[in-house]
Amino acid sequence: MSTLIARNLTYSYSKKGQPVLNKVSVDIKPGTLTALVGPNGAGKSTLLRLMKGQTLPDKGEITIDGEIMDKSNCQVALMPQRSSMNWKFPITVENLVSLGKIKKTKSRTSLPFQIKDLLSRPNTWVNKCCEIEASMQRVGIASLAKRRLDSLSGGQQQRALLAKTLISSAKIFLLDEPCSALDPPARNDFLKIVRQIADSGLSVFISSHDWGSSLNAYDEVVVLDKKILASGAPNVIQERLDDICCLKDKNLCDCP
Ligand SMILES: Nc1ncnc2c1ncn2[C@@H]1O[C@H](COP(=O)(O)OP(=O)(O)O)[C@@H](O)[C@H]1O
Ligand SMILES: [Mg+2]
Repeated sequence: MSTLIARNLTYSYSKKGQPVLNKVSVDIKPGTLTALVGPNGAGKSTLLRLMKGQTLPDKGEITIDGEIMDKSNCQVALMPQRSSMNWKFPITVENLVSLGKIKKTKSRTSLPFQIKDLLSRPNTWVNKCCEIEASMQRVGIASLAKRRLDSLSGGQQQRALLAKTLISSAKIFLLDEPCSALDPPARNDFLKIVRQIADSGLSVFISSHDWGSSLNAYDEVVVLDKKILASGAPNVIQERLDDICCLKDKNLCDCP
């Protein structure tokens, strides 16, 4: 199990621009389900990209189990924001999930899935198929394996994307607003699944617009608006609503 520690991350998109993240520190412990909440433009997606290693911070550092994280790390997986996906792409659920096994390689000659390798060692192929099946079962979509992505409901699509993310060898999962387009029942189903994943010892860090009693679904809550405004257990955050209700004006929440 892995612990990710981000310390004093500062990041600007341009040299002369104001930082969109200012001295942000976050700890992600094994087996925890954490909500990252903040208004639009608070820097949530930027922070997730930094924690995945896709973007380097201007200042600050990220360690995983005490080692400085580099771009090639495979301990962290990022499930992108729904709006960044082309949901009309003609692909079945099982093929989408299998894409999560493709290893990034610099070699131009390597084919997806290392096909040559798989054909020469049939057991490897069988193992991959079992992993795909297991990942779909884990999020309750095995019966949808042959369905096209564009024939699914929003909640089923998000679970398919989660299965693709989970099939990696990562221990820390960063999910960017996975529940943003889901109705309350689909949101609850999704949160039950990620709770089981966290209870199995993995870490799940979710950017979200949840607020008020919805935060009770999480172990920890981090409130971000370019800098960290508060962090702690949901009840601690709820007690501090008055301090952080400056966010109310920004439609983060329906706090009293
Ligand atoms: N690629 C980019 N280039 C320039 N500015 C960006 C880029 N992506 C995001 N921003 C800006 O950075 C800030 C934080 O954005 P983002 O991380 O997407 O916030 P959130 O996910 O909380 O809505 C916003 O002001 C946004 O306009
Ligand atoms: Mg975002």
